[in-house]
Amino acid sequence: MKYTNFPVLIPSLLVSSIFLAYSCEHDQGDGITNVPVNPSQGNEVTTGSACSPDTTYFVQQVLPVFQSSCAMSGCHDAATHKEGIVLDSYSRIIATGGINVSNPTKSKIYRAMANGGEESMPPFPATPMNSSQLAIISKWIGQGAKNNSCIESGCDTSNVKYSTHIKPLIQNACQGCHNAANAGGGIDLSAYSGVKAIADNGKFFGSVSHLSGYSAMPKNGNKLTDCQINMVKIWINKGALQN
Ligand code: HEC
Repeated sequence: MKYTNFPVLIPSLLVSSIFLAYSCEHDQGDGITNVPVNPSQGNEVTTGSACSPDTTYFVQQVLPVFQSSCAMSGCHDAATHKEGIVLDSYSRIIATGGINVSNPTKSKIYRAMANGGEESMPPFPATPMNSSQLAIISKWIGQGAKNNSCIESGCDTSNVKYSTHIKPLIQNACQGCHNAANAGGGIDLSAYSGVKAIADNGKFFGSVSHLSGYSAMPKNGNKLTDCQINMVKIWINKGALQN
């Protein structure tokens, strides 16, 4: 009932304050109420269109950030669910109520990632979210927090470099579980030397390609796209340089 009434209530300050009084579950205690996105709405992944640089896609860009920096073991995966929060899928991320599509940077989820204070997520000593990760999250929320996906058209592998391709990929999809404070399998990928080591011993390609004999990576997450795996392969074959 409150979902259907919300758009009618929102223009009226008076009525919405009555609404707030009856609905404290999304109130952050600071006067900010997160608009609850109906979890069943948009649950079907919108696919079919080619990736547009103007759109932020949940499947390709947002979910890897959550899976790597929030949904790891001991934090917000289905088994641990710290404070009841699970951040490993679209419906569970939406179900937290921490998404405010009309004011992305006021969203509880965004604020937890962005503020440098005590509540800062992921908590110290984990590496804080970087500005490109925060931009992905806020842009996605501002575009309606949709469960969207796109088809990569073409894969430009003509100039694959560590700095422009491999490092950003690792930051978004791997580093939350592979840093100095939280080195899954003893592997720290926060600096080039760690990435070079798994490139040289075959584990980088083996794990992201889901080859038998290797643990499939990103752990519990979606497999990297064919284009991303191809870039990893090309970068390794050219000597895994710090270029
Ligand atoms: C959700 C946490 C998580 C994410 C995300 C993640 N890893 Fe891991 N990774 C682990 C853990 C935990 C281990 C050790 C246990 C295991 O092998 O499953 C591990 C092991 C590995 C290994 C050793 C595999 C082997 O067979 O010895 C490699 C290589 C690796 N990760 C690379 C990556 C890369 C590259 C990414 C990103 C594309 C990534 N990981 C993303 C948690 C994660």
